[in-house]
Amino acid sequence: MKRIGVLTSGGDCPGLNAVIRGAVKCSQQLGYECIGFLRGYEGLVDPVTYKQLNSKNTSGILNQGGTILGSTNKGRFVARSGVDNREEIDIELLAGVKATCEQLDIAGLVCIGGDGSLAIAQQFHEFGIPVVGVPKTIDNDLSATAYTFGFDSAVACATDALDRLHTTAAAHDRVMVLEVMGRHAGWIALHAGIAGGGDVILLPEISWNFDGVCRKIIEREQQGKHFTLVVVAEGAHLPDGAMVTRERRSENRQVALGGIGNVVAAEIQTRLGRETRCVVLGHLQRGGPPTTFDRVLATQFGAYAVETIHRGEFGRMVCFNPPAIESVWITEAVSKLRTVDPNCSAVKTARALGISFGDCGPKQSPPASKPQPAFAEAESPELAAAR
Ligand code: F6P
Repeated sequence: MKRIGVLTSGGDCPGLNAVIRGAVKCSQQLGYECIGFLRGYEGLVDPVTYKQLNSKNTSGILNQGGTILGSTNKGRFVARSGVDNREEIDIELLAGVKATCEQLDIAGLVCIGGDGSLAIAQQFHEFGIPVVGVPKTIDNDLSATAYTFGFDSAVACATDALDRLHTTAAAHDRVMVLEVMGRHAGWIALHAGIAGGGDVILLPEISWNFDGVCRKIIEREQQGKHFTLVVVAEGAHLPDGAMVTRERRSENRQVALGGIGNVVAAEIQTRLGRETRCVVLGHLQRGGPPTTFDRVLATQFGAYAVETIHRGEFGRMVCFNPPAIESVWITEAVSKLRTVDPNCSAVKTARALGISFGDCGPKQSPPASKPQPAFAEAESPELAAAR
């Protein structure tokens, strides 16, 4: 019996198990056996580690976070460093993967991952290994799909946090800063900010400054509102263009972002003397059960990936092109990140509601790597430390 291989690669997110379950059920319907490789691409070679996937061991996993196959965002398979730089995967590794697929009679591999993981799948395809990609990331920054699964669950988590911060902020007349994930794209901050009643939203895509942030806080006070909710994406650039990082990482791994929320909170407190607190939501956004939307999307992606293999279409990534589930070339999906257009309707709606993006208004263009601040910035010790 021919087999379908499934693997989950990169940072985890809610809905991975739902994709696996969808792929297994669909494989069975089409007469394939299904196996799952362990710890992402690592399980494909030297040593080959996998387990049979069947209705018994995939039963009840639809609503579970994490992945029953394990995942990793480090290891021997690297197809890109940074956003644009292609790295060639070791040819012996590729040959090893091809041999594994032949020995195990794999009709096709379902590779579930984000940008970096799909870049690996693309090199597999170029080497003649039969792959179909499934777009995963809470950041929702993959091109060629309207949504990645995991995003809606992350937004629900961030919105819940804002709901909770709202009441405590109002009770104490405080400014509350919520730092959410979003390395290159501010989708989580934008959607949660709108859904959770944020007053200021700071994104990687829109240049902002502290004058703009403080202006909104004062404006609210003048309207009798003595608390403010600020949502900031971890990848938002400081007014001088710098990003706040937690740690440098070795080899080809991206630097760990985090800490901008505290920088923003400290600066607000210094400038305005208002009690300001920061919550960094971090990996809570990546855990827990997927939302209904993500369960449906992930299940459709899993099933459609297997159908794509069954049709003999490889080098494709399944995608959501509302209302249809379709597929596109993986290269289309990974050639460019899908970031927030500063003129998109969600940003326009937010501005129409009076939400501030910490800038001067809609005419502001997105930041270059080192933009000039729109206003002279007073240097604070926190800002200096963050540089
Ligand atoms: O790409 C998804 C993401 O959640 C980013 O928003 C974040 O920067 C990164 O993963 C964190 O990864 P890690 O868990 O490896 O620190």
